[in-house]
Amino acid sequence: MQRQRVFLICAATAAAFAASGCDTLMTSTPTEGDDFTAPMDDMSMDLNAAFVEGDENFERVFTVADGLGPIFNNTGCESCHPGDGRGSPDLGFFRISEGLDPRVDLGGAQIQDKAIPGHRPETVPPGVDVTFRLPPPVFGVGLMEGIPESTILAAADPDDADGDGISGRPNMVTSPAFVPETHVGGGPGMHVGRFSRKGQVASLLEQVAFAYQQDIGVTSDFIPEEIVNRQVVGNAVLGDLVPDPEISASTVLFTVMYVRLLQPPARGEITPEVERGDAVFTEIGCASCHTPSMRTGPNEIPQLSEVDVQLYSDLLIHDMGPALADNRPDGDANGFEWKTAPLWGTRLVAEFLNGEGAFLHDGRASSAEAAIGFHGGEAEASKNRFQALSDGDRQALVAFLESL
Ligand code: HEC
Ligand code: HEC
Repeated sequence: MQRQRVFLICAATAAAFAASGCDTLMTSTPTEGDDFTAPMDDMSMDLNAAFVEGDENFERVFTVADGLGPIFNNTGCESCHPGDGRGSPDLGFFRISEGLDPRVDLGGAQIQDKAIPGHRPETVPPGVDVTFRLPPPVFGVGLMEGIPESTILAAADPDDADGDGISGRPNMVTSPAFVPETHVGGGPGMHVGRFSRKGQVASLLEQVAFAYQQDIGVTSDFIPEEIVNRQVVGNAVLGDLVPDPEISASTVLFTVMYVRLLQPPARGEITPEVERGDAVFTEIGCASCHTPSMRTGPNEIPQLSEVDVQLYSDLLIHDMGPALADNRPDGDANGFEWKTAPLWGTRLVAEFLNGEGAFLHDGRASSAEAAIGFHGGEAEASKNRFQALSDGDRQALVAFLESL
């Protein structure tokens, strides 16, 4: 009951006090707009109730008794997405990139490096290359979901017809059969993938249902089969002792609603220097991929309907060159391609990670400025223009990034 009350306070007074009971890493309550855990403004009673219920799911820490594992990466959503932001480099998981003998069957490309008692975690097979995936933030995904496919496709230029050296393309993927047609990205046929680091996931329901099964080892009505460690001979069918499915469809759907209704943080102060940096951002070609704004289509949730979304991403995939390559295909993306990382919330990243910034798909850059230095491939020219800027323009650009 006590816990329930804390969540209700979180949702009801979200604007000012959202982080007080809903957050793991921050030590003091941020001011309004300075956090990742606030719901959309002025929600109806029904939406608010769904948000509160989903919040509880997101914060839930699974134990052996309620279905954790048998193998898993972490014990709950919030353990990897602290304060609804990105994870730090000691969270997240590894994906196999290169060298896996096709006769070795791990039952999936993700290495589940933890196991409940009586089971053994997966290990990286010898000669296999793996890449780390840093958990991205989860706020604003409802707005990302609300952008019509046609808007995303309109910006694609797969053959670089305009000759600007940038050839973004959508990651076209199919969805699992359990995602209904009524969900964005659901139903038969190909859909624009927009979630995860390579945009390999088309629907939020798929993202969340697989997070339960793959990341936490929790089965649901949507994915009732447990993942097991196939490296252990004779273990192929052994799950944990909790009967499957371990959680209901409605639990998964409330968790989906929770992330869908999370509001992005407000912009920081817009000083004259920030305005100058904004202009430089466009001049040197950053905005060609980090699209400053896209508009959502009609939506049954009024807060998500026909609004401008300042996510600073085109939701397309780009060849980012050899330094960032993970040599691993994902959906239609190849080993060099990554989805343009949204830049909203940049100013708060370090604050949410105990002062240590973590940028790019594997968290290798400790600041937004450092992240630019790793840009290559289609972004090479833009990076070079950044490095050739005068000190004043460079500082202005960084001030702009730090205002997002
Ligand atoms: C072990 C750590 C881990 C756990 C636990 C985890 N996630 Fe994630 N999450 C990630 C990583 C890593 C990615 C990016 C995956 C990729 O790029 O392939 C991700 C991606 C996402 C995304 C896509 C965000 C975007 O902008 O594309 C959402 C939404 C999400 N997770 C929600 C959840 C929910 C809800 C749960 C709990 C049911 C959860 N996650 C549990 C690590 C985790
Ligand atoms: C060709 C498209 C493209 C251009 C041009 C581009 N970027 Fe990026 N940017 C990306 C992609 C894709 C990623 C994600 C790479 C990864 O995760 O490894 C990214 C990541 C970033 C990140 C890290 C964000 C995070 O949260 O991890 C920052 C900061 C950034 N870009 C800033 C810039 C700036 C500033 C410029 C202009 C100098 C620029 N980018 C030009 C595509 C581009």
